[in-house]
Amino acid sequence: MTNILITGGAGYIGSHMVLKLLEAGYHPVVVDDLSTGMESFMPPGVPLHRFSIGDADKLNQLLRATQFDIVMHFAAFIEVGESVKKPEKYYQNNFFNTLTLLHTMKQHGINHFIFSSTAAIFGEPHYTPADENHPKQPLNPYGASKLMCEQLLQDLDTAYGIKSVCLRYFNAAGADPAGRTGYRTANASHLIPIALQTALGQRPHMEVYGRDYPTLDGTCIRDYIHIMDLCDAHLLAMQHLLAGGSSRQYNLGNGQGYSVQQVIDTARQVTGQAIQVIDSARRPGDPAKLVADSRLIQQELGWKPRYPELATIIEHAWKWEKQCYRAGC
Ligand code: UFG
Repeated sequence: MTNILITGGAGYIGSHMVLKLLEAGYHPVVVDDLSTGMESFMPPGVPLHRFSIGDADKLNQLLRATQFDIVMHFAAFIEVGESVKKPEKYYQNNFFNTLTLLHTMKQHGINHFIFSSTAAIFGEPHYTPADENHPKQPLNPYGASKLMCEQLLQDLDTAYGIKSVCLRYFNAAGADPAGRTGYRTANASHLIPIALQTALGQRPHMEVYGRDYPTLDGTCIRDYIHIMDLCDAHLLAMQHLLAGGSSRQYNLGNGQGYSVQQVIDTARQVTGQAIQVIDSARRPGDPAKLVADSRLIQQELGWKPRYPELATIIEHAWKWEKQCYRAGC
């Protein structure tokens, strides 16, 4: 039995990964402080340890009790705008706590690590689609904190042979097609959930942050990737490392950019609702355009997105939002 430690396993991406690992016959164990995750996302039978990965004592106890083969590290703060306003919160949790996690892992002889990195490490693109070698000049503390972790992982490989795969997500979106889990936080800040909550009438209107970017319609362009396609990439990355593979960094997106306006228009089509919009100022820290070149992971690990269409991504997110609304969650 392969034991996999999932940090942040009660959160949006982590909870999808737990489902994927169970389906593939692995044994996930979750550490989550439930600061943004939800206990109700945990499938029956999956152990949940409620503490922060910054708590070295609790981590030590857990790693003494169970021999893990690999760690998948999802626990992090992810709001670009908030990171500009509260930078130390991001460096503390995303970098310092990751350092604690890696140091503790090393003490217990765990040499395999999969890291949730981000397109935000690139900053304003010099060219698109962005491949793995694109210059890394983050525009916000969120991206900077993740880039510091990538650097740390390279150094840990050189010093101790700890092998890692950094998966640089572009815009993770959508939900489990079967509706078992999805995106849920008290204050959603991501575009698709906000558009869908507006469609449901939970918000009277939504804002478009800036119409003066140098893009086709003036709104920011992003590359939306289905959450289950991200999870497939983690599974492949894990199998690569457990088979003795080398440390790698991969960009993960569909290679297709959509503007904020196009996303709202697609959400209107999928939901059949008007979705009231008001125009607002630019959100600090937002690059104009982020699109991934994901050919490397396709070539090296055979990854292929199963749900590349924006409408499908929004349909699955819509199914989840409606379900949550009805359940009052
Ligand atoms: N946006 C709006 N109105 C909203 C919410 C968002 O106009 O109510 C705009 C944003 O300004 C941005 C775009 O929609 O231009 C997407 O914003 P999100 O907040 O959904 O996502 P981000 O692009 O800011 O960030 C996400 C992840 C990061 C990741 C990044 C990479 O949160 O982890 O994608 O593309 F790094």
